Amino acid sequence: MKLFPYSTILPVLAGRLVTAICPMAHTLLSPSARNMNESLIIPPDTNPPSHFYQTHQATTQKRGIIGFDAASQHVSTTGQHAFVPPGPDDRRGPCPGLNAMANHGYIPHNGFATIDEFVQGTHEVFGMGQDLALVLSVYGTVLDGDILSASFSIGKGDNTFSIFGSPTSQNGLTDSHNNYETDASPTRGDLDQYGDNTHIQLSLFRELYNLQSHISDPSQVNYDIDLLTAFRVTRFQQSIEQNPLFFNGAFSGIAVQPAAYQFIFRYMANKSEEYPEGRLDREVLKSFFAVRGEEEGDFVYTPGHERIPDNWYKRAPGDEYGLVPFIIELNTIALAHPEFLSIGGNTGRVNTFTGVDLGDLTGGVFDSTTLLEGNNLGCFVLLQVAAMAIPSGLEGIVEGVFGRLSEVLNPLLARWECPRFGGINEALLERFPGYSRHSVRNG
Ligand code: HEM
Repeated sequence: MKLFPYSTILPVLAGRLVTAICPMAHTLLSPSARNMNESLIIPPDTNPPSHFYQTHQATTQKRGIIGFDAASQHVSTTGQHAFVPPGPDDRRGPCPGLNAMANHGYIPHNGFATIDEFVQGTHEVFGMGQDLALVLSVYGTVLDGDILSASFSIGKGDNTFSIFGSPTSQNGLTDSHNNYETDASPTRGDLDQYGDNTHIQLSLFRELYNLQSHISDPSQVNYDIDLLTAFRVTRFQQSIEQNPLFFNGAFSGIAVQPAAYQFIFRYMANKSEEYPEGRLDREVLKSFFAVRGEEEGDFVYTPGHERIPDNWYKRAPGDEYGLVPFIIELNTIALAHPEFLSIGGNTGRVNTFTGVDLGDLTGGVFDSTTLLEGNNLGCFVLLQVAAMAIPSGLEGIVEGVFGRLSEVLNPLLARWECPRFGGINEALLERFPGYSRHSVRNG
């Protein structure tokens, strides 16, 4: 067993996964990782408490000069990238971005893709930063995919592969509840409330859609970050009030849930000369969420038919939305809504949300009263990714991928002066019935 700097937190489910596969496991980060983060925008010599604000300012200034270039930002929806709906054996799941990419041939149409395909495809279609894409897709592979082929399913998994002759299974994103897929999503219902976490609930989509119903001029409609944050406040409260098994997890609730809202504007908004940061109108929103119909009452949702709109433009090259801008925005939103940072859940009845003491959960390393100070929240998110564990014996197979991950994470963890972490006390989570129904890969 080998432990590296910054690698001592064991994420709740990855820890379970690894001990299930092999008791001898080690974590991912290499001490020799070299700094690959020249493109990241955190100034190296700023004091930790002001990182997020200074960086946010830098991001805004940078966007101001990025501009718009139709040729490099147009996303093809013709020829080899024409929309092809999924067939009966093709997998589609809870992520509209990945579903749309598969439908347009930016990742394999069957819905199984490798880490490299996810990283390349999300950059080509949406302008996702490659560091963020790497983190998301390595996490998907380790928690819910096939480590040997460094891939995972965007929908249901495939249980036919084995590790060293032992049959195992991959959940795919559809069955990743509470290890990746989360409650209080924008348009997907809570699994235990709706019995389905993969398809949109039209009632929830309509709620989102109607947040711009007071705008009569279609050219002024914009589902922006402020609107989506307000919608998240509503959805979070709905989960508390309606789902007896609502659970807000340490990674799924703190990092994935905000991504699901922020990504809607940051990636789906249509960029133009007039709106270089993008404007997300009704038609584009419906297209990415596989909804047709002019009037709200006539909406028809066709599962898996998420579509990249024609005449749609992604983020500008150089203005990718990657790990740092994502965490800055997550932090900024949490400052206004600290309730989003409550790890815990309902205790079997609605309106019983009980938070876990963060100090108890993290062995005193993090504290809810200081989580929003300095870089603490960013550290808390990244440390959970950094400590993903892989089974001994597989290091050679995945060395390249995890070496790249460490090149992304190590410099940030060092620059943000992230603390050492003794691990999460899982026992504190097991009393939540919603947590105990989480997906355990080999369970
Ligand atoms: C490798 C990259 C990605 C991975 C592994 C990934 C994974 C996921 C997962 C597991 C969920 C379920 C979270 C939940 O329960 O709310 C999700 C939801 C979502 N994803 Fe992705 N995603 C990726 C890239 C993208 C991109 C590029 C977009 C661009 C628009 C996107 C947009 C969304 C949205 C909007 C949701 C929330 C859906 C809803 O509930 O309405 N994702 N994604």
